[in-house]
Amino acid sequence: MRTQVGIIGSGPAGLLLSHLLQQQGIESVILERQSRIHVEGRIRAGVLEQGTVNLLQQIGVNERMDREGIVHEGFALAFAGRKARIDMHGLTGGNAVMIYGQTEVTRDLINARLAAGGVIHYEAPAVAVEDYLTDQPRIIYEQNGSPKELICDFVAGCDGYHGAARRSVPENKLQLFEKIYPFGWLGILADVPPVDHELIYANHERGFALCSMRSHTRSRYYIQCSLDDSVDHWTDDAFWDELRRRLPPESAEKLVTGPRLEMSIAPLRSFVVEPMRFGTLFLAGDAAHIVPPTGAKGLNLAASDVYYLARALTAFYTEKRTDLLDRYSETALRRVWKAVRFSWWFTTLMHKFGDDLLNHRLQLAELDYLAGSTAARTAMAENYVGLPFEKFE
Ligand code: FAD
Ligand code: PHB
Repeated sequence: MRTQVGIIGSGPAGLLLSHLLQQQGIESVILERQSRIHVEGRIRAGVLEQGTVNLLQQIGVNERMDREGIVHEGFALAFAGRKARIDMHGLTGGNAVMIYGQTEVTRDLINARLAAGGVIHYEAPAVAVEDYLTDQPRIIYEQNGSPKELICDFVAGCDGYHGAARRSVPENKLQLFEKIYPFGWLGILADVPPVDHELIYANHERGFALCSMRSHTRSRYYIQCSLDDSVDHWTDDAFWDELRRRLPPESAEKLVTGPRLEMSIAPLRSFVVEPMRFGTLFLAGDAAHIVPPTGAKGLNLAASDVYYLARALTAFYTEKRTDLLDRYSETALRRVWKAVRFSWWFTTLMHKFGDDLLNHRLQLAELDYLAGSTAARTAMAENYVGLPFEKFE
């Protein structure tokens, strides 16, 4: 099999890239390790930056998002029995984020991809990328138990942290930056109305908590948990009790509880690989970087990466230009590092780090400063709504 751009992974990065390329008349094939049902069932992110929303609108995959997505102009920081609102809209000159689940984005992208005649091979795991230092890289993959090969002009490794693309590059060619946080997030999804119309990020002596949502009738809540915790240790009631303890009293009173639709634990990690390009192999999204979910940046970084990559590939195919391909890694990484910094900062501000009381007092001082300083809140709001994409032309 042969294609112009071989894409490994049908998460948001791979699917968006495939659409952006098709719009420019560039052909691609997606290889996905999991089944379609598995991919569509994963509960992940919930907050889309304006840049991500713009990209979905640009490729025409916005009809359901425009109807069902909820625009949020602010969120709350809860600490020491108080709440401070970050007025994103007012502080950034009119910017906001969209609440629309990654699950829904993925479903919309898959449907649109298939409707446009796009090719996605499910249950076709890539094993390795070969010959990526030539102009004919090959993806070695498996399908129905047999080894197969996809010959390409370029390969996009959009296969997440555990994917095969990055692992095809010898370790001595990669510079890895990694921090593993000493806690995780235990998340619940339930068909109950959200406790508030905006998100609440809570710093509490017992640990971090987050009140998020997927719609006016479906809530997503998280509590900080220990790394060795397991979903089996948690009944629904135990989760709701612990969440209630970590919220300001007026929110705790309003909390509506119900049976879980899903419960899972996510570890927290900051990770970046440099560079993001190796000859004709390009990495995008979680394959190249992971951020802790506190800043809601992971999916949005996947979107900005493929925005740059699609432009670089378009310049190559339509104008025979290679300069944007050469600049892809450094350009994408500039935005990546800023989001890595913001996610690390917000994580450090909000979580309980053991019994470090000095650390907790410093967090409270910083939260108090944020509550009282327009300059500090503006810096936070600007990062949360998403820093602008560079022009890249
Ligand atoms: P993925 O979505 O991981 O997709 C990679 C795909 O590649 C997968 O389908 C995988 O099955 C496939 N694959 C892997 N290996 C292979 C292989 N060898 N061959 C073929 N296919 C392969 N981000 C936000 O922006 N906002 C949020 O609010 C937010 N909240 C989050 C909450 C949680 C609890 C978690 C866990 C994450 C959150 N994120 C959030 C992060 C976000 O979900 C990810 O950053 C995003 O999914 C990255 O997209 P991707 O396409 O790069 O990778
Ligand atoms: C979510 O709704 O899943 C969510 C929202 C905000 C975050 C992380 C996750 O910072």
